[in-house]
This record gives sequence, C-alpha cells and structure tokens, in this order.
Amino acid sequence: MAAFFDPALAENGGAGFIREGKIDEALRRLIPGAHISKGHYSYPARSELRDLVWNHMDQNHRPLIHRTYGEASRIFLDRRASFSLTRFGGWPIVIPVFDGYFKENGFYQVSILFGLIAVINVIECNPDGNDTKMDIGWAIASHRWLRFLHPALSRRFVRLNEVQNREDDPIRNRRIALRAAGYRFKTDDPDFMNSNVIENNTVFPPVTAPGEIALGDLPDRSAVQVAIAGRAFILRRDGGGVEVWPGVCPHEGAELAAAHVTGTSVKCPWHGLQFAARRLTSGGQAIEVCGARLEFAADRILVRPSAPSPLA
Ligand code: FES
Ligand SMILES: [Fe+2]
Repeated sequence: MAAFFDPALAENGGAGFIREGKIDEALRRLIPGAHISKGHYSYPARSELRDLVWNHMDQNHRPLIHRTYGEASRIFLDRRASFSLTRFGGWPIVIPVFDGYFKENGFYQVSILFGLIAVINVIECNPDGNDTKMDIGWAIASHRWLRFLHPALSRRFVRLNEVQNREDDPIRNRRIALRAAGYRFKTDDPDFMNSNVIENNTVFPPVTAPGEIALGDLPDRSAVQVAIAGRAFILRRDGGGVEVWPGVCPHEGAELAAAHVTGTSVKCPWHGLQFAARRLTSGGQAIEVCGARLEFAADRILVRPSAPSPLA
C-alpha cells in the first residue's frame, strides 16, 4: 500500500510541499481512473515582482475588490500558507481552498469542488522585461466519468483570472506610483502573515520640502484632497477648525479621497479600514498624519517633518 504521505513526492525528505513535477502522480494515486486535464493562463502586469507576490498573498482585499469573490472564512494562516473555506457564489456550498508559498514567487492553490473534482493551480510571478507577468497553470482531476466538465471549468478559470487581474491592476499601479515618490512598505518582503495582519505597513518618505495651505483656500464644510509635502491629506474646514484624514492609506497605500469620507470617518476601498478625523484648531496641538506634522498657525496649515517614527 502506498504511504499516506510519500516522502518521494515532497521536498526536504517529506517535510514540505509536494514537488511540482509530482502532482499528477499524487492525483492518479488518489483518484483511481483519474482524468487529468491541464490549462494555462498568463497575464502581463505592470508591477514590481514583490507587489505582485504581496497582492496575491493579501486575501483581505478580495471581498472588497473582486466582484467574483464571495464570502470566505480563513481557518489557518502562517507565513507560507493559508487555508480558507469559500462560499460558492450565493449558494450554501463551501469550497476548501489551500494557498501555499511553495517556492520563491510561486504558489500552489488547491481547491476541491463538490468533493469530486480537485483543482491544483501553480501560480508564478515572473519578471517580464521591465514589468512582470503572472503565469498560472492548472491541473483539473476527477474520475474520467466527469471529464466532460473539464473544458467548461478551464474556460471559467481563464475568465476568473482575467477579471481579477484587471481589478487588481489599479492596486499594483498605485504601488508603482508610490514607490517612485519614495514610499516603501513593511510588506516589501511579503509573506501570508504580514500581508494579512492589519497594521500600518506604509512607510512614508520623510518630508524634505515642507509645505502649507491657507485656510482661505479650503472650501467651508466640504472635504477636499490636498497634496502637500509629497503626500496627500483630506481636509475639511468647519468654522474655527479643520478636520484631517490621511490621503494615503497608512495600511498599504491606497488613495483616500474626499468621496470616501462619510460623516467623520474615511473608509479605505482596498481593505475597508476606517480612519476617524483628527482635528486642528488655531494655536492648538500639532498632529501627526501620513508621516508628517501638521500645525494650524494663524490662518494657515503648516506641514513639517514628523517626529522620528516614520509610521505615524
Ligand atoms: S490599504 Fe488596506 S485598508 Fe487601506
Ligand atoms: Fe486580487
């Protein structure tokens, strides 16, 4: 009888992921009379490799960004792997999904459909000239009686990948723009943990050119996004004071705009974090926002270098 876990199929003498070239063999052992079909999809992404990897590891953006993504519940997470249960559309059907970072810039994504069909994706983030591309190959395995379903599933995976990559493009492009402006991220060396634990991961560039804005240039009681000193803020003048929100999300750098303000908080479109307004009053306390120090002096708001922590 074949061993439950055959060391010959895995890396490190059995203590790790299955070897890439051994997946078919494992599936054939598992499903007598298996039919295995293969598909492939490649997407050119204007992105840095590390952002492509981070974007794939970041699971918290999926319900907000992807129309194709339903409810999910994460069961397990560590630096190299994640296991979730995902609902199939609006149906009361649950699909287990395993994500594993099995090699540099490469993932396994394994799901089981209705207990009958195993799908193993090998997802690679690869350089492509100055840009990157995502190469996704999949193996669909089932008993041969169900092989008639494979072509439709393959077509569905192509469509899903196409739609989701297009929805992710603005996120990856935003990171390029921020990096060009001197931003860094604590997820520059991404793993499943730092990409999914909600923290302030944006490292703002130091303020090298202080700036200011006259109060008279702000509309009354209407939030506006203002770019000053290499960063952005949302400001709302209300009578004697000014409410301030970050215009760059401290979590992972999404753009926060006046349209994202509801009441006294701004909600980020990438992962849904909400930030309460900070308030500046003439002659009052300075505040730290977006790695800068803001002060209300006379009729102006001054933006100056922050105190030492770059993560405010
Ligand atoms: S970038 Fe994640 S909540 Fe804003
Ligand atoms: Fe995505």
